Amino acid sequence: MVKNIAVIRGDGIGPEIVNEAIKVLDKVAELYGHTFNYTDVDMGGCAIDKWGDPLPEAELKKCTESDSVLLGAVGGDKWNDVPGNMRPEKGLLRLRAGMGVYSNNRPAKIWPQLAEASPLKRSIVDKGIDFIIVRELIGGIYFGEHKTEGDTATDVLTYNEAEIERIGRIGFETAQKRGKRLCSVEKSNVLDSSRLWKKVMHKLAEEYPDVELSDMLVDNCAMQIVKNPAQFDVVVTENMFGDILSDEASMITGSIGMIPSSSLGATACGLYEPIHGSAPDIAGKDIANPIGTILSAAMMLRFSFDMPQEADAIENAVWAYLDAGYRTADIMSDGKTLVGCSECGRLIAQKLKKE
Ligand code: IPM
Ligand code: MG
Repeated sequence: MVKNIAVIRGDGIGPEIVNEAIKVLDKVAELYGHTFNYTDVDMGGCAIDKWGDPLPEAELKKCTESDSVLLGAVGGDKWNDVPGNMRPEKGLLRLRAGMGVYSNNRPAKIWPQLAEASPLKRSIVDKGIDFIIVRELIGGIYFGEHKTEGDTATDVLTYNEAEIERIGRIGFETAQKRGKRLCSVEKSNVLDSSRLWKKVMHKLAEEYPDVELSDMLVDNCAMQIVKNPAQFDVVVTENMFGDILSDEASMITGSIGMIPSSSLGATACGLYEPIHGSAPDIAGKDIANPIGTILSAAMMLRFSFDMPQEADAIENAVWAYLDAGYRTADIMSDGKTLVGCSECGRLIAQKLKKE
């Protein structure tokens, strides 16, 4: 198959980690006889420097015309003082909205090889951590009005029923393919938008009788994720709650550097990115963990290109790499072999076998 992939290296460690994912994708292409064409897209701080805009229209068009988008990370201290609507992150938000990718899927799964890297007690980890956060991605407070007038700043949080329903359906469908348990997370004891969220979820539940729906307040959910993560199968939540809970969920699996994500809308053209940021403090040092990006590339093959065997091959290669005792600095522990970012990508590509 021939697939055209828009590649956004971005800022900070973005270029390093994306290069390693491409190494792995090239190996997949070679083994399975596919052709992956890559088109570079400027987004984030580097686009501000080059074009004076975090995502020029022409760059967004390259993404919407591609078969899918692979993204590293954007942002950094260098652009902290630019106005809010010109920040690097604004490029990412415009990309998500421009692609219409309303459903962000963030798995929190512990690799048995990394049980020691989790900050949780072994007795909690051993009960298992394997859930998915389905995060609404193009609505809510991120996309409401933002303004600062004098000494007052305002950010508006709005959801309508249609926006909640379409992400709710993804939550139920994801649960149907897994353990058939869906936890809807909101703050309905305070927010109107959350009361609407809850109402829509319960109405939808009638259409999915095989899925058990539960409700949880977001503050309680933050607590339950560290207290008893084994209770969760699929969590569905709004944009900002999903942002916060997915960082928390990633950390209990050992490292945020390991977690990929997929973002999809009405078409097969998806956006694939690790959930971590651009980590400017370690940029250019060849010490970042590229696995979150490599696993995002695997998700791209699985969800957008219908290449499940190729996706399995990447995940198995990551498994073999961890089994062989290699670790980047973020997940290093006694007795393991410390490797850098490029060595990590090379080893995973080397371990890739046709399934
Ligand atoms: C994420 C990031 C982004 C978000 C930032 C960089 C805008 O934290 O993907 O989780 O908040 O969505
Ligand atoms: Mg985040």
